[in-house]
Amino acid sequence: MSPDILSVAVRAVSFVALLQGAGIAIFVALFRLSLGSAASEIRRLGIWSAVAALPLLLSQVVLEAARMAGEFAGVLDWSLERLVLTSAAGAAFDARVAGVVLLLAGLAGSGRIAQVTGCGGSLLAAGSFALMGHTSVHPHRWLLAPALITHVLIAAFWLGAIPALYLAAVREAADVAGRLIEGFSRVAVWIVPLLAVVGGVMAFALIPRLAVLEQAYGWLLLAKITGFTLLMGLAAANRWRLGPAVALGTRRAFERSLAAEYVLIVGVLAATATMTSLYSPEPQ
Ligand code: HEM
Repeated sequence: MSPDILSVAVRAVSFVALLQGAGIAIFVALFRLSLGSAASEIRRLGIWSAVAALPLLLSQVVLEAARMAGEFAGVLDWSLERLVLTSAAGAAFDARVAGVVLLLAGLAGSGRIAQVTGCGGSLLAAGSFALMGHTSVHPHRWLLAPALITHVLIAAFWLGAIPALYLAAVREAADVAGRLIEGFSRVAVWIVPLLAVVGGVMAFALIPRLAVLEQAYGWLLLAKITGFTLLMGLAAANRWRLGPAVALGTRRAFERSLAAEYVLIVGVLAATATMTSLYSPEPQ
């Protein structure tokens, strides 16, 4: 296995852990009043997700030196490691670690200050994405940075909401879970299309020619759009059919649909990690 492949795999899993922790912090802050007995379990999952992100983020930075050297021996080259830590990847790592610390502090408490702290951690984690990558070196960075931060924040919220809603459906009384799902759907119906809009704006700005859609970057972008379309189908079924059924005591189909949504989002994040690590939106 090459350092590139391992690095992309670690990056994809770190996206899942970091964004899940960040998303759960936002979910808890938004729906704290609708959460009953599942609240502490949801917060605990957020804490474990954030904790799991730390070694993954560190491995990602360490592996970056191996990628530069083109072989795993690069991880032991301190001059390369120092170079990574002082680069944009190092700045993103620092912001992510600071974000994780805030997430942990926020999710460990339950008051207003804890929720604001947790959301600050989510913002810092999302903001770290704008410090590196294709958008950070683009002439229209002023537009792409807020677009990317919005995109990542919504992706995090969506990813974090899935296990939170699953736990609520399993642990809460049917009427409590039903109200929570209804509240989430009311927010999601506005922000999920926004994820596609800002994603589309970024794609439009980053891709100079349609020919790019015939190379690896374009294929992965099209795979993301396909994944998003399938996710919208599941989200619509949850909104109109499966979610309301939970309030009436039928939750199995909703749980299965959430599991499918989770797998699809993880797939989209893997495609994103590959596309942003290995390929360029410039025509080859
Ligand atoms: C219509 C659907 C979507 C489009 C058009 C889209 C487009 C994009 C584009 C153009 C970028 C910037 C890539 C670059 O820097 O080269 C991006 C980044 C990103 N997208 Fe999406 N996306 C979509 C859906 C999603 C979904 C469903 C998720 C996850 C739930 C997601 C998660 C991310 C993440 C985490 C990044 C940041 C990657 C990084 O900077 O390392 N996207 N997306």
